[in-house]
Amino acid sequence: MNELILGDCLEVLKNIDSESVDLVYLDPPFFSNRNYEVIWGDSGEMRSFQDRWSGGIDHYISWLKERVMEMHRVLKPTGSIFLHCDWHANAYIRVYILDKIFGEQNFRNQIIWKRTTTHNDSGQGAKHFGRVTDIIFFYAKELKKATFNPQYERYTSDYVASTYNKVDAEGRRFKASDLSAAKPGGDTSYEWHGKKPPTGRYWAYSQANMLEFEAEGRIYYSKTGQPYLKHYLDAMPGTSIDELWSNCVFRSKKERIGYPTQKPEALLERIIQSATNEGNIVLDPFMGGGTTVAVADRLDRAWLGIDQSVAAVKVTEFRLQRQRGLFSKPFVTRLHKYDYDTLRYQDAFEFESWIIQQYGGLPNIKQRGDLGLDGRLPDNTPIQVKRSDNVGRNVIDNLVSALRRYDKNRFEQAQTHGVLIAFSFGKGAVQEVARLKNEEGIVLKLVTVEEIVPIAKKPTLQINVVDLGADSKGQREIEFQTTVTSSVGVQFFAWCWAYQAGSSFKADVLFDKTGVQRHEFAPGEHNIAIKVVDNDGLESLEVLRLKVNGVVVTG
Ligand SMILES: C[S@@+](CC[C@H](N)C(=O)[O-])C[C@H]1O[C@@H](n2cnc3c(N)ncnc32)[C@H](O)[C@@H]1O
Repeated sequence: MNELILGDCLEVLKNIDSESVDLVYLDPPFFSNRNYEVIWGDSGEMRSFQDRWSGGIDHYISWLKERVMEMHRVLKPTGSIFLHCDWHANAYIRVYILDKIFGEQNFRNQIIWKRTTTHNDSGQGAKHFGRVTDIIFFYAKELKKATFNPQYERYTSDYVASTYNKVDAEGRRFKASDLSAAKPGGDTSYEWHGKKPPTGRYWAYSQANMLEFEAEGRIYYSKTGQPYLKHYLDAMPGTSIDELWSNCVFRSKKERIGYPTQKPEALLERIIQSATNEGNIVLDPFMGGGTTVAVADRLDRAWLGIDQSVAAVKVTEFRLQRQRGLFSKPFVTRLHKYDYDTLRYQDAFEFESWIIQQYGGLPNIKQRGDLGLDGRLPDNTPIQVKRSDNVGRNVIDNLVSALRRYDKNRFEQAQTHGVLIAFSFGKGAVQEVARLKNEEGIVLKLVTVEEIVPIAKKPTLQINVVDLGADSKGQREIEFQTTVTSSVGVQFFAWCWAYQAGSSFKADVLFDKTGVQRHEFAPGEHNIAIKVVDNDGLESLEVLRLKVNGVVVTG
C-alpha cells in the first residue's frame, strides 16, 4: 500500500482485492457549475469531465454508481465510506447510489459541513438563502461490525468559564456536581461529615464510594459544608461531536495549494480518526491535491490515492515529500510513462528484477553462478537483462554459451532458447540472432524495454535570474524565469527557496502554472530548487546557487 496511482478510479479499483480497505473517502467532481469544476485542466481530468456531463444527472449518477459499487467491494466488513457532495446531486446520490449499494440499514449520518470560505452564492437579486454547506454521507459496510471511534472537540471558552468555574489548590479547573439523588438505592441515607442528604433526597453513592472519592480528593465542600463531586476539566474528553461540522477549516495559508475544491486537513482528520485505527488502510479514489492521503500518512494509516489527472498525482507526491520526516514509510507513484534516465541509471539488480516482472517473468533471487542469467519465464525460458543501449554481437555469443551450459537438455529441445532484454540492440546483435535462427535453429528473442513498459524522456529546464534590486532592509528581490523543453508540454512548476542538497524536495510553492516566480532573499548564499512536471508526469529538478551580496551570482 501507500501508492499514488494515475488513472480512472474505476479501472484502478478493479485491480484492488475485495475486502482490503478500512475507509473510503471520496470527493468526486460535483454535478454543478461546469467551469468551476475543472481544477487541473489536463487531458485526464477533461476526459472524465466530458464523460460525466454528456447525459445530464442520470448519466452522472450511473457514472458514479459504477465506481461506488467497486468501492463497496473493496471495503472490509468493518469498513465505512464517507461520500462528499453538495445540494446539486445529494438527494440522487443517497437514494439511487448509497441506499442501493450499502443498504438503508447501514446509513449512519448525513454530515453537514460548513465550507471554509463561506463562499456564498446569494448575491444581489438572488432568490434563495446563501448555500454555504456541503453534505457528507457516512455509511458502514456492515453496521454491527463497523469501526467507530467517537470524536470530541474542546469546550468553548464561554462554556468552560460558566461550567468549570472552580479552581482547586493545585490550579486544576473543575465543575462541582450534586451528590444527592431523588431515588434511594442501597446504602444512601447515611450521615456524611455531619450532613444528611437534603430533605426528601438520598446520597447518590454508597458510603464506600464516598470514602474513595474523599481519598482521591474529589469532594468539594460549599460554604455551608454541603459536599459536591469534582469533575476536572483536564480529565474530560470535550464535547462529543455531532453531525453539524462548522469548524473544520484551513489552519494556515500554507495548507492551501490554490484550487477551489481543496478540503481542509482538519476535516479529513476527523473522518479518518473516527472510522479507522493506526495501521488501517484509507483509500481516496478522487484524491485531487491529496488532502486525504497527506492526513492518513501523518496519522500512521496506510493509504492509496487515485486520480485521473497527472497534476493531481504529482502535486500530491510533492505535498507528501514536503510533510515527510525520517521515519515516514515509503510510497510509490504509478504514472503511465517511465522516465528513460531513471530506468537506465538506477541500481542494476533492482532494474533487472523489476523489468523481468513487468515482462511476466520471475527474477532470480540472486545471480546464478557466472552464467549471467537474470530470470525465467513461467515456461522456464531463461531471461537475460542488459541495462544498456546498442547491445552488440558479443553479448549474443556469451548468452548462447550460457544457455547451453545452463540446461543442456532444454537447450536441445527448446523452441525459444532464451530472451534478451535491453534498451536497444546494435546491428551486429540483430544480424547474429537472425543467423542463429536460420543456420543453427537457435531462437533468441530480443525485447526492448520500451516494448515492455512505455518510456519517455523527461523535460529539461533552464532558469534565467533577474535581479530586481534591494529594498530598504537589504533584502533583494529576484525574479526567476524558466524555459522548458518538452515533447509533451508542461503541467506545472514547484519551487523550494531553501533547498538542502541530498534531502527531499520540500516545496514552498507547490503548484505554479506560470513558471515565473519572484522571491526576496536576505544577503548570503541560497540554494533554490525548481521542479518542472510535464504532461506525462515526468519531472526534472534544477538547483541554483545564489549569492546575494549586492550582486547576484548563479551557478
Ligand atoms: C473535487 S476534486 C478532489 C479534491 C480533494 N478532496 C482535495 O482535497 O484536494 C476531484 C478530483 O477527482 C479527479 N477525477 C475526476 N474524475 C476522475 C476519475 N474518473 N477517476 C479518478 N479521479 C478523477 C479530478 O481530477 C479531481 O482531482
